[in-house]
Amino acid sequence: ISMSDVTITVNGREMKGAVEDRTLLVTFLRENLGLTGTHVGCDTSQCGACVVHVDGKAVKSCTMLAVQASGASVTTIEGLADGAELHPVQAAFREHHGLQCGFCTPGMIMTAVDLIRQHGSALDEKAVRDGLEGNICRCTGYHNIVKAILAAAGASQPQQVAAE
Ligand code: FES
Ligand code: FES
Repeated sequence: ISMSDVTITVNGREMKGAVEDRTLLVTFLRENLGLTGTHVGCDTSQCGACVVHVDGKAVKSCTMLAVQASGASVTTIEGLADGAELHPVQAAFREHHGLQCGFCTPGMIMTAVDLIRQHGSALDEKAVRDGLEGNICRCTGYHNIVKAILAAAGASQPQQVAAE
């Protein structure tokens, strides 16, 4: 077995460990560090439940080896809240009912934080829906997820067709 030493800053703390070269970043986070908020929903790189930030950018952590993340700074869903204070995107998901079973939620939120970083309040519904292309939700129908992300960005909400 080929092993390598990795040093990864995870949620602000430097973590060192020896991993098999084939170890995925998601496996390192979940099994070596016990950070099980990052989920695994597929084995085909499609679902987005595993999204974390690597040096500030959203990455599917099942598509990257732990050794490739050595030297990088990784943020997981566990690193977003400030103590008991939810991150604004987490708070918006709660307020706008952006989750049901919650399985997709960590990945959705990490993707959303990166989208807001890129677009700020210029974010619009199309950019959110395009940006969530790699994140699958089996429960919500996405509408409230989109609303939550637009609200967290301080962007305007989609136009509603008035009910008769
Ligand atoms: Fe599904 Fe990573 S676990 S995309
Ligand atoms: Fe269940 Fe998205 S809330 S998969």
